[in-house]
Amino acid sequence: MKIRLGAFILPSAGAPPAAFERGFAGQNPNYYQAALRDCSRLLTQLDDLGFDFAAFSEHHFHLEGLEVSNNPVMLGAWAAMLTKHLRIGQMGNVLPARNPLLLAEDLAMLDHFSEGRMMAGFARGYQARHVATIGQKLNAHSTAANDPQYAEHDRVNRELFVEHYEIIRKAWAEPLFSHQGKHWKLPPPGIQWNHPATRHMAPGMIDDDGQLVKIGIAPQPLQDPSTIEVCIPFTMSPATIEWSAQQGVTPIIFTPIEPLAKGCLDLYHSAAQQAGRNLAWGKGVGHFREIVVADTDAEAIAVMERGLGYIWTRWHDWFGFNEALRYPGETGDIPNTPACVRERGYSLCGSVDTVARALEHMIETLSPEMIVPWISAGPAPIDALLKSNELLVQKVLPKIGIELTRFKPTLRGDVTAPTWRR
Ligand SMILES: Cc1cc2nc3c(=O)[nH]c(=O)nc-3n(C[C@H](O)[C@H](O)[C@H](O)COP(=O)(O)O)c2cc1C
Repeated sequence: MKIRLGAFILPSAGAPPAAFERGFAGQNPNYYQAALRDCSRLLTQLDDLGFDFAAFSEHHFHLEGLEVSNNPVMLGAWAAMLTKHLRIGQMGNVLPARNPLLLAEDLAMLDHFSEGRMMAGFARGYQARHVATIGQKLNAHSTAANDPQYAEHDRVNRELFVEHYEIIRKAWAEPLFSHQGKHWKLPPPGIQWNHPATRHMAPGMIDDDGQLVKIGIAPQPLQDPSTIEVCIPFTMSPATIEWSAQQGVTPIIFTPIEPLAKGCLDLYHSAAQQAGRNLAWGKGVGHFREIVVADTDAEAIAVMERGLGYIWTRWHDWFGFNEALRYPGETGDIPNTPACVRERGYSLCGSVDTVARALEHMIETLSPEMIVPWISAGPAPIDALLKSNELLVQKVLPKIGIELTRFKPTLRGDVTAPTWRR
């Protein structure tokens, strides 16, 4: 059986948990340099091991240092220079708070820098500190279950998300386009642009009176835009699953709880069929997990507890992430402990045999074609993370008959010259 592995890397500042507790780790230049060093070693290893992609998050104002990734596209451009085959993604660009035109342009540039290895990831955004500040001119709001104004904020968030996505797709696919939406008028009416060079070199952009009537981005992506793989992190809204099924977007499913994950697969499968997509059950989606392999269970647990175990219980639980671990019908608080994250199946952690059994069960249950390991670069010891990836690919996967495969990008039909590094 073949699967694709895609690494999710926040990243965090390159420092042990104690350094975070001393404060302002996100602004310590030494820790950011260490994070880049760790990530550069990870990225070249993932490229060599046959991972399909690596994707970075988008979080702003992270003085705490647990998520130091303001611009996953810029970080991706850096990663593209370190790698040859690994695709470069984002998990994800927080679309409701971003200018969709600027993001469409940046992703197109990343696609050219990487010679067609760009993968696009768009998240809805759960941190009010980031979304409401960066997106204030768009009246953007984050979406988080513990938000007292969840219903209205979630409605606005999704409205902006969908319109921004539509604009990005137009910008990638159409040389010239206009967009008259609720939040954007592209171009805005009344721009006089009677430039003779534009009339000659970009016919259709201005009308006979010299009014700007259409715009376009340059460059557009190197890949055929209809083939660019797009993913969306999914935490809890069925509406996100349905939308992604209709759009041919790959949702990255968070919950490891089998009945819930199966429910997501059922919903995605039926919504995809209704949209005329012929997909087998379980296909078209990715599953988000942590995977830590070491020589012994105890060693792996120690790495997990210094990495994701620390980040999740110290930061993410506050946003309700533990809800992804709740069994159907379970009431009361979910224990906010690294052990709970392991016991409920989010973190597959242990020796080669332990992880092989857990992964084999997951594959039998969910038939995944894509698994997205969360690699906690930063607080976790980098050598242990590198060893874990090696053991996963060279010991665990062969043990359960799994081969790695990669998505094959399709360049636009009019790409005739060698790409810049060839
Ligand atoms: C794999 C993964 C990556 C995510 N990355 C980000 C991110 O970079 N920035 C962010 O604000 N939210 C991120 N989120 C959270 C999503 O924004 C969150 O799922 C959303 O707020 C809830 O969406 P839903 O109700 O559509 O599922 C991520 C979630 C997952 C599962």
